[in-house]
Amino acid sequence: MSIITCPNCKSLLHQSEKSLRCQNGHSFDIAKEGYINLLLANQKKSSNPGDNKIMSNAREAFLKTGQFDFLLDSIESNINSIQNLPTDEHENIQLLDIGCGTGFYTRNLFKQQGFKKTGIDISKIAVASASVKDKESTYLVGSAFNITIVDNSIDLLLNIFAPIDLEELKRVLKPGGYFVKVIPIGDHMKEVAELVYDKFIPHQSTIQEDIDSIVLFQIIKVENLKRIISLSRADLLNLISMTPYLYKFDKEKLETLSELSVTISFEVIVCKYDLTQ
Ligand SMILES: C[S@@+](CC[C@H](N)C(=O)[O-])C[C@H]1O[C@@H](n2cnc3c(N)ncnc32)[C@H](O)[C@@H]1O
Ligand SMILES: [Zn+2]
Repeated sequence: MSIITCPNCKSLLHQSEKSLRCQNGHSFDIAKEGYINLLLANQKKSSNPGDNKIMSNAREAFLKTGQFDFLLDSIESNINSIQNLPTDEHENIQLLDIGCGTGFYTRNLFKQQGFKKTGIDISKIAVASASVKDKESTYLVGSAFNITIVDNSIDLLLNIFAPIDLEELKRVLKPGGYFVKVIPIGDHMKEVAELVYDKFIPHQSTIQEDIDSIVLFQIIKVENLKRIISLSRADLLNLISMTPYLYKFDKEKLETLSELSVTISFEVIVCKYDLTQ
């Protein structure tokens, strides 16, 4: 059954040849790469919102090095350790990755379980790249602030280094479903920041308080992951280019960069939409 909704009228979209259509006659083509663009013109603040081609290519090249694979392991082991995830019905589990970028986590997480996966990102370039690499999942261009997914349909929602609207997330998640949020914390990329700013300001977030006060999800685990990784010049350039730091460097400084050890510090927050709360 389809869980994708029309961005115009919110009714269900169904596939009809090479497009998705709703009962009110709105129609969206399936792009040659396989994704569907459901982002309406009035939801865009610029002509090409989200990560651009340089950032998306750099992200894909950097993630391929395996330097962040420990995050894949953390998310998988945290979710797999949850006893009441119905293991005999894996193919019925709906996973949604909001702000999926080039789909690295969407396609590489829970590879063996056969979950039904959907990735949404506001960047058409990133979503096209994700679709080309992964024909098992469904990829949509869309906004985290207007999720084109039916109410109470998602078992596991991922949101990795990307914006989220907590009310929208609560609407699409099934009661009893899980939400995994990953954010940079503390000294994350401190050594890079120090190359462009006089003073490093550690990362801070109010997301745990927001989850507590806005959606009342039960936070069941918070895992802090910290590594200092040694990067070649090429990997360092990709790491910088996949973040807004790229636009803080002047060209000359980028050209003179050599290898660097960089602190990577993530917080993985696992929550449950627990109706008994
Ligand atoms: C730092 S990247 C993370 C991508 C991916 N989760 C990963 O870790 O590889 C942030 C992503 O959020 C997307 N994004 C930014 N604003 C968004 C919005 N309002 N709705 C959906 N995606 C958005 C960007 O296009 C970008 O792909
Ligand atoms: Zn419609």
